[in-house]
Amino acid sequence: MCGGPRGRMLAGMTAIEPGTDRYGTAFLSRDAPDGRLPEQGMPPVDAMRLLGDELVLDGIPMRNLATFVTTWMEPEAQRVIAENLHRNYIDHAEYPQTAEIEQRCIRMLADLFHAPGSTTGTRTQGSSEAIMLGALALKWRWRARREQAGLDTERPNLVFGNDVHVVWDKFCRYFDVEPRIIPLRDDKLTIGPEDVEPHVDERTIGVAAVLGTTFTGHADDVAGINDMLLRLKGEQGLDVPLHVDAASGGFVWPFLYPDTPWDFRLEQVRSINVSGHKYGLVYPGLGWLVFREPADLPGELVFYEDYLGKRDATFTLNFSTGAAMVLAQYYNFVRLGREGYRTIMETMRHNARLLSDRLVADGTFELVGEHHTEQLPLVAFRIAGERPYDEFDVASQLAAERGWMVPAYKLPPDADDVTLLRVLCKETLGQSLVVTLLGDIAEACATLDQKGGLHALDRRRVKTGTGY
Ligand SMILES: Cc1ncc(COP(=O)(O)O)c(C=O)c1O
Repeated sequence: MCGGPRGRMLAGMTAIEPGTDRYGTAFLSRDAPDGRLPEQGMPPVDAMRLLGDELVLDGIPMRNLATFVTTWMEPEAQRVIAENLHRNYIDHAEYPQTAEIEQRCIRMLADLFHAPGSTTGTRTQGSSEAIMLGALALKWRWRARREQAGLDTERPNLVFGNDVHVVWDKFCRYFDVEPRIIPLRDDKLTIGPEDVEPHVDERTIGVAAVLGTTFTGHADDVAGINDMLLRLKGEQGLDVPLHVDAASGGFVWPFLYPDTPWDFRLEQVRSINVSGHKYGLVYPGLGWLVFREPADLPGELVFYEDYLGKRDATFTLNFSTGAAMVLAQYYNFVRLGREGYRTIMETMRHNARLLSDRLVADGTFELVGEHHTEQLPLVAFRIAGERPYDEFDVASQLAAERGWMVPAYKLPPDADDVTLLRVLCKETLGQSLVVTLLGDIAEACATLDQKGGLHALDRRRVKTGTGY
């Protein structure tokens, strides 16, 4: 390939129209390749500029108050990631120290979640993969118990509330399990033992409880559900395990609410998933699944194979994937320690409370669900009283005026009379930005007060997902 100044071409490349390469891109007067792999390539600068120009249309990460997923890591962490992007997680023989670091992370998480003794677990692509694997373990263990007792293994079911992420429905459909979904109510947005008990029977493979829902950031009554399951075990001999979906809460509760038992301190909690890429503060592509004890992972789900000269055990839905985020998680663990995570979580909570207190102060908004209680550091709120516009209008106006990405959405069926806005108060949303955001929300409402809503009513009724 010819080096040197831009505009010198690979042999056989289409000539660039005169003048269009002057600013470093061949695409000022051409469409971006699409639909068919281009016959020839292009100089690296052109490819980079093409992508850079396209991605300008994406939102600015620090104004993205919608996602739970990490949008900022410190430069040293970014360097660790950049230097290890080539590393395939599955190459345990070639990268044994990476495999060891994964195990260290699992042991640290098991300890953080109060596992009683030795444990096992795995790194996953996110909580979704962790939940699929955890729920598969529930199904396999239920089947083994039934077979041992000489009972049929037809029609397994799984009990959870409608406050769960869509991945739980997905698991049930993909793996042929009946979902027993507890509806929410406008005035009850999480579930407790009284909701769960009527749905549990001998075919229940497990109950899933959420620590930090996507909708309002509150937790199901995990301890209450555990006590109820223990009672059923004592009274009826039904041993129903509890899986805690701590996708977000698993890195929040241990630091903000350390005395609240939700984890392996509770006897029926057999497995927990957590997203490293949410409050674990790592960029996307990382989740964790931790079992209470090795016996909670059925041996048949672990595959042993000879790969690249080593006998390897795998328990994943994927095979090859990057190891950089595992290393980044370990970086955060040693860099921040418990004290660092606690400080960051407390700061986020401080800013969430500041935002929520001021949002309700003049009566324009009200909070959804209890506040100043155990909750993820977020603010879920809605318009108080009658206005000529709705929450979707506020979200659009705020985006139009200042570029803030604040989602508006409806709660799931049975509670879908409630429309709300949600702001995640992440590490990068400091106090000064919270105050700015408050001013911007007030401005957006003032604009809407003058000109009315932005959308026709039927458009406002379109349900928006929040499952980030
Ligand atoms: C409670 C809960 N469970 C599961 C998930 C899925 O997690 P992931 O995006 O890590 O796959 C989410 C995502 O927001 C969630 O909030």
